[in-house]
This record gives sequence, C-alpha cells and structure tokens, in this order.
Amino acid sequence: MQDLAMKGFTVALLVWTLISPSSCSKAWPTHTVCRDGDLEVLYQSCDPLQDFGFSVDRCSKHLKSNLNIRFGIILREDIKELFLDIALFNKGSSILNFSYPICEEDLPKFSFCGRRKGEQIYFAGPINNPGIEIPEGEYQVLLELYNENRSTVACANATVTHS
Ligand SMILES: *[C@@H]1O[C@H](CO)[C@@H](O)[C@H](O)[C@H]1NC(C)=O
Ligand SMILES: *[C@@H]1O[C@H](CO)[C@@H](O)[C@H](O)[C@H]1NC(C)=O
Ligand SMILES: *[C@@H]1O[C@H](CO)[C@@H](O)[C@H](O)[C@H]1NC(C)=O
Repeated sequence: MQDLAMKGFTVALLVWTLISPSSCSKAWPTHTVCRDGDLEVLYQSCDPLQDFGFSVDRCSKHLKSNLNIRFGIILREDIKELFLDIALFNKGSSILNFSYPICEEDLPKFSFCGRRKGEQIYFAGPINNPGIEIPEGEYQVLLELYNENRSTVACANATVTHS
C-alpha cells in the first residue's frame, strides 16, 4: 500500500515537474519526510529547476541505521559519480558539515549510479546511515546532491523538529 501510494506520489510529482515552467520563481511545496509523535521532518526543494520526492518509512528520534527510504527524481545531470553534502544548523549556528559519496566510479553503491541526464530514478530500499539519537530542538538541514563536475543534481532544505 505504502509503496503504491509513494509511486503515485512520485508519478504525480514527476508530471508536475515536467509541466512546470523551468523559470519557476516561486518556492516548491513543502513535503513531509515523516511524522511520528514528537518528531517531524519536512523538506522543500531548493533547486529552482525541479522538485523531487523523498520519504522515510519510519520516523524515530532514535534514528536507526539502515533506514528504508524512497526517492524519486528526474536527473538533470549524468551521475557517474554522485555526492551528498549535508549542513546542519540550530538557531542559525552551524553544527555539522558532512559529505558522503553515493556513487563513485569504482564503487557504485546503488543501482541508479551511472544513469544519464533526463532519466527518471525511483529508488526504494535501505541506505547505510549511521544510527543516531536526535536531541530535542529544531534543526535546519541543507542537502545538496552533485556530480563529479560539481553540477547540482538535487538540493533541499529541511526542518527537523523534535519536541
Ligand atoms: C526552506 O527555506 C525557506 C527559505 O529560507 C524557508 O522559508 C522554508 O521554511 C524552508 N523549508 C523547510 C521545510 O525547512
Ligand atoms: C564533466 O565534464 C566533462 C568535461 O566537460 C565532460 O566530458 C563530462 O561528460 C562531464 N560529466 C558529467 C557527468 O556531466
Ligand atoms: C560548515 O560550512 C560552512 C560553509 O562552508 C562554514 O561557514 C561553517 O563554519 C561549517 N561548519 C562547521 C561546523 O564546520
């Protein structure tokens, strides 16, 4: 059921992405990654060219390793190599910067590595993330996916609220 719902969501999002004018100047809608009791994670695409779909199957303040995620996007660049930069802020102060390789030429971790510009990716499965305890508070997170030429593939700003 959840898979179907997410596929429907991703398809709707892709259609929306395709029909939206690329010179769109207004902000993209806010999406929910997960919401569970006292934890809520929301995100918005900060790529002026497109929105994308992302969700996590279970939200928990005790973030488990090997989270199951769903991710759907149309590639605006080739991704022979793909990197993720994460910047974490609390009340405007920078707490942590983190860079993580997702696709490397000799070490493609995911089946979508090597896909070409214009192709659609839909990924559902576990990722190898560190398990962490999320302290109470509100956090701002900036995420950017980029390829080996430092061209943006996706960009998002998120808010994590643990009340
Ligand atoms: C993303 O950033 C914009 C502009 O700073 C802000 O208005 C919005 O609330 C943020 N969205 C999320 C989900 O954090
Ligand atoms: C990166 O740039 C080089 C030189 O312009 C080009 O040949 C290569 O295809 C680019 N790679 C990607 C993934 O776009
Ligand atoms: C994270 O990177 C930003 C921009 O490069 C920098 O201003 C900030 O001090 C860095 N924060 C940490 C905790 O390293």
